[in-house]
This record gives sequence, C-alpha cells and structure tokens, in this order.
Amino acid sequence: MRRSSPQSLTETMIMDINGSVALVTGANRGIGMAFTEALLAHGAAKVYAGVRDLNAALNPRLTPLQLDVTDEGQVDAAARAAADVNIVVNNAGVIGGPSLMQGSLDGARREMEVNYLGTWAVSRAFAPVLAGNGGGALVNMLSVTSWVAHRRFPSYAASKSAQWSLTNAFRMALREQGTLVVGVHAGYVDTELAAEVDSPKIDAGDVAEAAMSGLLNDEPEVLVDEVTRNVRAALSGDLEILYANR
Ligand SMILES: NC(=O)c1ccc[n+]([C@@H]2O[C@H](COP(=O)([O-])OP(=O)(O)OC[C@H]3O[C@@H](n4cnc5c(N)ncnc54)[C@H](OP(=O)(O)O)[C@@H]3O)[C@@H](O)[C@H]2O)c1
Repeated sequence: MRRSSPQSLTETMIMDINGSVALVTGANRGIGMAFTEALLAHGAAKVYAGVRDLNAALNPRLTPLQLDVTDEGQVDAAARAAADVNIVVNNAGVIGGPSLMQGSLDGARREMEVNYLGTWAVSRAFAPVLAGNGGGALVNMLSVTSWVAHRRFPSYAASKSAQWSLTNAFRMALREQGTLVVGVHAGYVDTELAAEVDSPKIDAGDVAEAAMSGLLNDEPEVLVDEVTRNVRAALSGDLEILYANR
C-alpha cells in the first residue's frame, strides 16, 4: 500500500513494505532470493516466489508461483493468480551472450528475451494489478551496465540498457496510477551469474537492502555501490574518461 506523505498530497507517496504483498521473479537463488528475504524482514505479509521449477527449495514462508518470464501464458496466469500483489520485483535475468567478434548470437537473443522482454511482459501484465491495489511499486533489477558498455559481456550490457530504457518508459506510463517505478543498479554481485568474474563483488543481501531503502524513501533510482555511483556521475562527462580503464 502507498500512503501520501503529510508534506504533500499530490507528489510524494510513501511506500509501505510492512503488510505488503510482493512478487519476486527468479526468486529461487541469487539476488532474487535476497529480495524475498529482505521483503519478509521488512514485514511483507505475503511474498510470491516466481520460479521456473516449482520443486525448487524455498523458504517455507514464501508462496511459490510458476513463472518463466519468457512464457507469456505463464506471465498472464501469474497476474491472475497473484491479484493481491502491490510490489513487483523484476529480478529474473541471464548472462551468456557471445563475444563481440565470435560465437552464435543465440545467447544474445536469450539475454534480450529474459532481461528485456521478460521484464516488459511481467510489467505490463501486473500494471493493472498494481493499479487495483493502490498503485504500489515496480522494482526492476538493472545494472551498472545499463550505462556502460562491456567488452566481455556486450550483449548482456545491451540487454540491461534496454531494460533501463523500458523501466523509464514504465515510470512515465504508470505515474498516473500512482505506481512507484524503481530501477536498482549494481556492479558485480556475488551470485552464480557473476561466478566467472574475478573482480570484487558485493553481497546480494546488500543489493536487496538498498532496494528496500529505495522503496521506503520513494527513490526512482537506487545506486547500490561505488562503481555504479561513479559511472552514473561520469555520464555527463567525457566519453574518453568513462571508458579510459575499461
Ligand atoms: N550478479 C551480478 O553481478 C549482477 C549485477 C547487477 C545486476 N544483476 C541482475 O540481477 C538479477 C539477478 O541476477 P543474479 O546475479 O541473482 O543471477 P543468478 O544467481 O544467476 O539467478 C538468476 C535467477 O533468474 C532466474 N531466471 C533465469 N531465466 C529465467 C526465466 N526465463 N524466467 C524466470 N526466471 C528466470 C533463475 O532461475 P533458474 O534457477 O530457474 O535458472 C534464477 O532464479 C538479474 O537481472 C541480473 O542481470 C546481477
């Protein structure tokens, strides 16, 4: 539920996580699992765990929900089954595209299917649900690569750029129904997705907690770590500087 702040009845809406009903996609591991734990810790009354495999081991406090975000039939069925939701977290994501110069483009297509089109399908299926439940919030798990290209993972970065653009479009489109749309950006996080990366990583729990703080403070954009904040700040500067050490 969202409630108006005492300062402004028209502009500032405050999100309540306590007592809310949330859905997290890709909830069985990684950042998605951390999101479910954070939502429960902040008092969510019910958390649907969107999973591709209903046999996945889950916290018994979660409500499992079959949800492959690339299957529009499943997405529509999920929106009907979880009609009490007022926080939707688009977390499901994959990496696995080719290098710039070699390899099948199928992996790049898959990244677009899951990261970009999956987010789109879930967002538009749940937009009326959120409207019917007081506006609520849509939280999209983005990345620092929404803003900066990556030599090693070019198609993953492009899919996160597309997902970022989509997030901004939904923010405009859902403004009138009072839905807070939050983009969460982070650098490397310690999950299976980044297992091959030999660089400093932050904890998935810290990402989820930063997102909770963003929700509670009505922030459209959550910059979880220093690398993300630095890249965001550098966007208005010289491209040569942004890409100097990459
Ligand atoms: N790890 C990082 O460094 C990092 C940094 C910034 C942003 N992110 C973003 O954070 C999100 C979560 O990533 P993660 O690091 O937690 O990855 P992860 O540990 O690999 O987990 C990915 C999750 O997405 C699910 N998933 C994959 N394809 C799906 C589909 N078609 N439909 C529904 N669920 C699907 C997986 O389910 P299965 O178990 O069934 O495969 C799994 O639950 C992604 O959007 C990613 O782009 C990650």
